[in-house]
Formats: sequence, structure tokens, C-alpha cells
Amino acid sequence: MSTPHNSANKGDIAKTVLMPGDPLRARFIAENYLEDVVCYNEIRNMYGYTGKYKGVPISVQGSGMGMSSIGIYSWELFNVYDVDNIIRVGTAGAIADYVELRDVVIGMSASTDSAYAKQYRLPGTYAPTASWKLLSAAVKAAEAKGSRFHVGNLFSSELFYDDADSLADWKKMNVLAIEMEAASLYMNAARAGKNALTIVTVSDCPLRGLATTAEERQTTFRDMMEIALEAAITL
Ligand code: HPA
Repeated sequence: MSTPHNSANKGDIAKTVLMPGDPLRARFIAENYLEDVVCYNEIRNMYGYTGKYKGVPISVQGSGMGMSSIGIYSWELFNVYDVDNIIRVGTAGAIADYVELRDVVIGMSASTDSAYAKQYRLPGTYAPTASWKLLSAAVKAAEAKGSRFHVGNLFSSELFYDDADSLADWKKMNVLAIEMEAASLYMNAARAGKNALTIVTVSDCPLRGLATTAEERQTTFRDMMEIALEAAITL
């Protein structure tokens, strides 16, 4: 059995999947951290791999950019492939003043300007929320690693290029960082009765005009991956 976007058969994918936005990052993780790796998807080059980290089966697959793209891939992982846990590992732009370049942000919740929640026909607004099991595991792993990290509210934006420049308004509400995927991932997990978490490293500070170098992004990416992998094997 497969889907229009994933050629894996049931059973090819582990119960826990790490999802970077970039499929080449998925390949990097598979090549550098996993053993006994098998590639289960190449459709649209959205590579997916299953291997073992410290003996525990883990999969890693690209999500693409934006809530629509991760919405498709995570829906299929949860509802077609019986995946229980998805941990997004990505980058974000700092919003809060106390969030600095290279910090790790663990997304307890994800505010959004997306209409994704409309499909659930709720008589009010919905608060997309991480799973406590994954959140607490990631916090323990980040503490053990000694990384500088924050836990709080992300802003999942539909827009990378935003004509309205809304970040100052989100900042007033103590939102920590902007990215583009957590909210639909959290809603898909809630709807499927599964678990999701987003961990990001801060690659830039749009309000302060700062950005990390490609080399810094590679190093901070490794720190975040190690947090995610160590958390994943405790689930
Ligand atoms: N906006 C949206 N997504 C991002 C950003 C940003 O500034 N930086 C990293 N991911």
C-alpha cells in the first residue's frame, strides 16, 4: 500500500519519525546518525529513510516547506502508516527579544494565521499544542545536552514574505519564534490521536536583521538533531 506522495509499504516506517523540512537533511541524518538504513521514499525527492539509532528503529523524512506540505506528509504518516510520533526538526526566526541566534526553541504550542483548523468546524478558535510526552522527553534531552533552549509558543506563518510585517504584533503576545509548519502538524496529530512536537534552532532574527552562516546552521542543526534523537529513543 502506498499514497500519491509516499511509496513506502506499511511496516517500512518506524513508529517515530523525525521530519526536517529539507529532504537532503533527512538524508544527512540517515547517513550520519542511523545504522541499517533503508530508503523508503523517493517520490518528489521527498526522501524517507528507516534505520536504527542506538538500536531503536527511527525514520526520518522530509516535510517540505509550509503547513500544506507537512500537512500532507504527516497526515499520511499518522493515518496510513500507523506512525505514533512525529518530531519536526527545523529552523525558525526569533521573535521574542530573549531568543537569540542559535538557540533551540521547543514548540509547546503553535499560533497561526492559517485556515487549516476550519476543516474541523469548531465553534471557536483552536490552540494547536504539542504532545506532553514528546515535549517532556525533548526538554530532558536538551537539559542533558546543556543546550540553550526555550519552551513556548511558536508562530506558524503562511507567509515567508509578508507584506504586512506582523511580527511586532506576535511579539506583544510573547510568541518566541516564527516558522511555517508546527500548527498543521499539531492539528493532524490531535485529530489522529497521535503525538507531535516541533524543535527548531534559530537561524535568523528578522526583527534585528541578524542571520547565522551556513556553517553555523550545520552545527546547530547537529545539536538539535541529537536532542531529537535522544528524546525519540526514550518514547
Ligand atoms: N520566517 C518564516 N520561517 C522561517 C524564518 C522566518 O523568518 N526563519 C526560519 N524559518
